[in-house]
Amino acid sequence: NNQALLDSSKNHLWLPFTQMTDYERDPLIIESGEGIILKDINGKEYLDGYSSLWLNVHGHRKKELDEAIKKQLELIAHSTLLGAANVPAIQLAEKLIEITPEKIRRVFYSDSGATSVEIAVKMAYQYWQNLGKERKKKFVTLSNNYHGDTIGAISIGNVDLFHRVYGSLMFESIKAPFPLVYRNPLKDEQEIRDCALSELRTIFHDHHDEIAAITVEPLMQGAGGMNVMPKGYLKGVEELCREFNILLIVDEVATGFGRTGKMFAVEHEDVQPDIMTAAKGITGGYLPIAVTLTTEEIYEAFYGEYEEMKTFFHGHSYTGNQLGCAVALANFKIYDEEKILEQAAKKAEFIKSELETLKHLAHVGDIRQAGLMCGIELVQNKDTGEAYPWIERIGYKATLEMRERGMLTRPLGDVMVFMPPLASTEEQIRKMVEIMADSIKAVTEKEKSAV
Ligand code: LLP
Repeated sequence: NNQALLDSSKNHLWLPFTQMTDYERDPLIIESGEGIILKDINGKEYLDGYSSLWLNVHGHRKKELDEAIKKQLELIAHSTLLGAANVPAIQLAEKLIEITPEKIRRVFYSDSGATSVEIAVKMAYQYWQNLGKERKKKFVTLSNNYHGDTIGAISIGNVDLFHRVYGSLMFESIKAPFPLVYRNPLKDEQEIRDCALSELRTIFHDHHDEIAAITVEPLMQGAGGMNVMPKGYLKGVEELCREFNILLIVDEVATGFGRTGKMFAVEHEDVQPDIMTAAKGITGGYLPIAVTLTTEEIYEAFYGEYEEMKTFFHGHSYTGNQLGCAVALANFKIYDEEKILEQAAKKAEFIKSELETLKHLAHVGDIRQAGLMCGIELVQNKDTGEAYPWIERIGYKATLEMRERGMLTRPLGDVMVFMPPLASTEEQIRKMVEIMADSIKAVTEKEKSAV
């Protein structure tokens, strides 16, 4: 029964990225889902406002996806990719190469966004070693970048709150400024962009002979606060990479597969990465498949006889899982059949107009959006941009209020994340924005009357 489940969850589970006292006070146990609705064990329904942590695409229990898994199950669930290929892994690789930027020619599988990033880091590092450029060992990252939670991923990440405590575990990376627009004393976006690029140029100029690669979250920096890059910044980074012979790693784990309105965020600025990571939406949000994609040039630096010691020594037990690859293939079939990208671009426009209704709220400081990735920043003082004291946890309170009203998301500090599945209808989007507005009003007005 439900009480027993609840007690058991409190006694046995340790939830990720969760202070368990929060969970104990406000537990939530999901039992089922249908479309973009999640249902808990008490039968209460919630709109999936965060795409089940930024990954769901077509909604839950999508018939074609369910069927693809059942069909694959009749053949095999899993066999290893270490030294042996499998059928859906080959077919999916072919499809990925078709839909990714021109220069991308090779697919290396793993099972989460963080592992795809670990692989990108080791690949870039070993690439230069294999070429005999032993000094090129360092990574450049942008302030507030987030690439997942494993040690390598946090080493090239830069979110102080998440990473501070692990300081001595991490390898050092070079930090370059992210061109943050909100609260920037420079008012002009182009100026902000040029400033950041010029600082990056200085770093590249002074250290290029020891820099292996730079990692960026293209177009939209996610967990670091939902920050949109000024137009032209990403292209500028690519140009600097070419000029100084530094690899460009783009992390499309969050932005990939239509989330920003195009299949990949790099397409907005016609950027050709050397290494690209992707996960989340690749299976429509069904199973843990991730990929690190790269160019033939990088692949070739690892290619040779075993004795040459150029092999890429990396692999996970579940790499290239057949059920996952089969559902990913069915996922891309739906992109074609239902014209998902065209739809996503239209929905992004609709979301933009709906979010206008939040702009006038007394404590909404900024609204940032790239396609279906949105962040709404709550502030104590709208004129100065002064933040709430962190201890008030206003963002967290707002999401609890939203939960009450039938919608789920997670905040990033005081930034409310709004990232609905690509399948959300206009009606559902309108309803979600309404719930966000009501919840923001409820908690910010409550705070005010308490003072
Ligand atoms: N790279 C990017 C750009 C990501 O946004 C993520 C996860 C990853 C890599 C890691 O992928 P994973 O290993 O999870 O499959 N911690 C925040 C939300 C993180 C959003 C997930 N992004 C929270 O507490 O809500």
